Amino acid sequence: MTTRIIVDPLHPQPDLIAQAARTLQHGGLVAFPTETVYGLGANALDPGAVAKIFSAKGRPSHDPLIVHLSSPTDLPRVARDIPALAYTLADAFWPGPLTLVLPRQPAVPDLVTSGLETVAVRVPAHPVARALIAAAGVPVAAPSANRFGHTSPTTAEHVLHDLQGRVDVVLDGGPTTLGVESTVLDLSTTPARILRPGGVTREQLERLLGPIALFHTRTYEEKGLPSPGLLEKHYAPRAEMILFSGAGALAQMRSHLAAMQAAGRLVGVMAADEDAADFEAAGARVYRLGSSTRLEEIARNLYAAMRALDAAGVDVILCRNFGESGLGLAIRDRLTKAATRVVTG
Ligand code: TXA
Ligand code: MG
Repeated sequence: MTTRIIVDPLHPQPDLIAQAARTLQHGGLVAFPTETVYGLGANALDPGAVAKIFSAKGRPSHDPLIVHLSSPTDLPRVARDIPALAYTLADAFWPGPLTLVLPRQPAVPDLVTSGLETVAVRVPAHPVARALIAAAGVPVAAPSANRFGHTSPTTAEHVLHDLQGRVDVVLDGGPTTLGVESTVLDLSTTPARILRPGGVTREQLERLLGPIALFHTRTYEEKGLPSPGLLEKHYAPRAEMILFSGAGALAQMRSHLAAMQAAGRLVGVMAADEDAADFEAAGARVYRLGSSTRLEEIARNLYAAMRALDAAGVDVILCRNFGESGLGLAIRDRLTKAATRVVTG
């Protein structure tokens, strides 16, 4: 049984938060909004509770979880040998969409870290998340609240679509504001490196840290290679998804659209507002992402667009890149992971 609790996103009602916090304290699962995406939370110090996250999501246990705290002062509860740099970053970006990878405290169960000697930690900015974690009084382990491999949820409806009956409580605080996940920054290596681009941009980090490397398990260019069986499918819609990059991206999208329509396929396009009319006139099912000059709009709408086009039953989704600066890097990362194919034109 899943209880949905509608809560004020800016001023969460203490009695409703207390109800959800008790569920966490008793070893239950609570999905809750963060400023990035909805998380699927459990008491991070209770291995039995954390195990439920993996079974609810169908997530393999070799994929470690982020531990959420209500305040940076709780950092020593889960991490040790904390470098001064961690506190500098915490001062600058917490609460907010930055996850730090640090040496872990032995109290953190192996299941949370997949047996790694490090732990990923962040202090989320969303009032509901902060109130929930503070009321529970425990660190909260939470991956994105979707079935494994699916698109991350940015609304409570998305969470229920994936996890109805598999989670005890869903705190519904409306749509999330950022729409893409936190930036994961590895501080356990020198120099620090970005493991996943996200809500805090590379430029913001570089202002404090100087030039910073982006760690690629598989580079963007490699994704163009014809080895789909080897690619990790992630953040993905059900439909086939093709990503277009380079100066000729829009022209390539138009010709692919025409060819696919001629082959009788139902085509969805995730388009910037500026590009939308063109694709609509061509008969595609278009989801408008927002202006390409306001990447925060594109990021906010990205996952909802994938889910909406899936629900509309399209066979294939076409989308283009939005550059590498600012949030463009995180958008490109998620689109690349979702894509079955990348076309460079
Ligand atoms: O914005 C977010 O980060 C959201 C909200 C709910 O906070 N959470 C989220 O969690 O995206 P998840 O589980 O979907 O992604 C966690 C990422 C994964 O890429 C995982 O590999 C990485 O963090 N991670 C976790 N622990 C790690 C560790 N000890 N070392 C390296 N990477 C780690
Ligand atoms: Mg996830």
